Amino acid sequence: MPEMTPLTPTLAWIGDVGGCLRIIDQTLLPGELRQIDLVTAEQVWEAIRALRVRGAPAIGVAAAYGAVIGLRTVLDAERTTFDRRLREVADYLETSRPTAVNLAWALGRMQRVAASRPELSSAEMATRLLEEARQIEIEDREMCLAIGRAGADLLADGTGVLTHCNAGALVTTGDGTALAVIYAAVRQGKRLHVFVDETRPLLQGARLTAWELTERGIPATLLCDSAAGWIMHEGHIQAVVTGADRIAANGDTANKIGTYSVAHLARAHGIPFYVAAPTSTFDLSAPDGRSIPIEERSSTEVTQPFGRQTAPPTISARNPAFDVTPAELITALVTDRGLIQPVNRDTIRNVIVRPEERLRSLVGT
Ligand code: MRU
Repeated sequence: MPEMTPLTPTLAWIGDVGGCLRIIDQTLLPGELRQIDLVTAEQVWEAIRALRVRGAPAIGVAAAYGAVIGLRTVLDAERTTFDRRLREVADYLETSRPTAVNLAWALGRMQRVAASRPELSSAEMATRLLEEARQIEIEDREMCLAIGRAGADLLADGTGVLTHCNAGALVTTGDGTALAVIYAAVRQGKRLHVFVDETRPLLQGARLTAWELTERGIPATLLCDSAAGWIMHEGHIQAVVTGADRIAANGDTANKIGTYSVAHLARAHGIPFYVAAPTSTFDLSAPDGRSIPIEERSSTEVTQPFGRQTAPPTISARNPAFDVTPAELITALVTDRGLIQPVNRDTIRNVIVRPEERLRSLVGT
């Protein structure tokens, strides 16, 4: 089994309730690997918004720790004050980015924990919430391994795999989602070649996926986004694996802008298109992709990427950060609870909704 270099943790909590959230500042990669410490809820909000910490699972974990940080002014207060502050901080952190459902999922889980133990003092509850954030982090790592196990057999020895954006160790506290599948297949001894879309406009593919694969010694080739179709045509790609930011009940999947185009290209070339995601990325309250909010970011990310003016300053530009790939273009969903194939409302429900919840909904209790 090939050894892979361990990476600096994407994020980690340092200390006890009064501690801080240490993250890799991903905006500086690949030029500089720098960790920064976040000590206020505003800093956590800014770090998520500015993509210093990014990717659906990682921003869920960061937000859970961010909630703990935001409570440090009310540790000696009455529980009503503490609970009100928790709601405020959670609502605030949730506004940092709208598309990845893991953010709201993690904050909702933290609030449910607080609601379940009204008898604890504020200080005791803060400690309990730190434990819960740590638990979310541990589960995040475990789900990466489970996704890897579920998906590794999809990639045969010698496969050329295309991935879009960055869905690797940098988006989780473990191996990632899409890249977890690739890492697991490599650990099985398979020789893969990864084609990496650069992923305009913020270059998560070029800056982050290419860096991560290089650090781990996995053979990879960087492509500008518009080359993907031609490289498929040339026969170099036998599978596409991407991550997801939110998956609706019918399987429609929001992911980084450009994923929709790649899915169509894969279909046109008869290449399987896989989406790897944890259960926390499913939003069964969204019936289909039309209910998924799509983040629109500043047009200057398109016209002035990385501070350099590359288009006339007066041109108008659109910058949707995500798009939605229709379920019918997805060959299989690779989840921590196994493969979902074919992708439709029933197959998703059977895997994602726990048996006892399905039973409850059938008997109407
Ligand atoms: O804007 P980003 O960099 O946060 O977008 C990230 C992606 O689109 C990833 O592909 C997605 O979060 C899945 S990673 C598990």
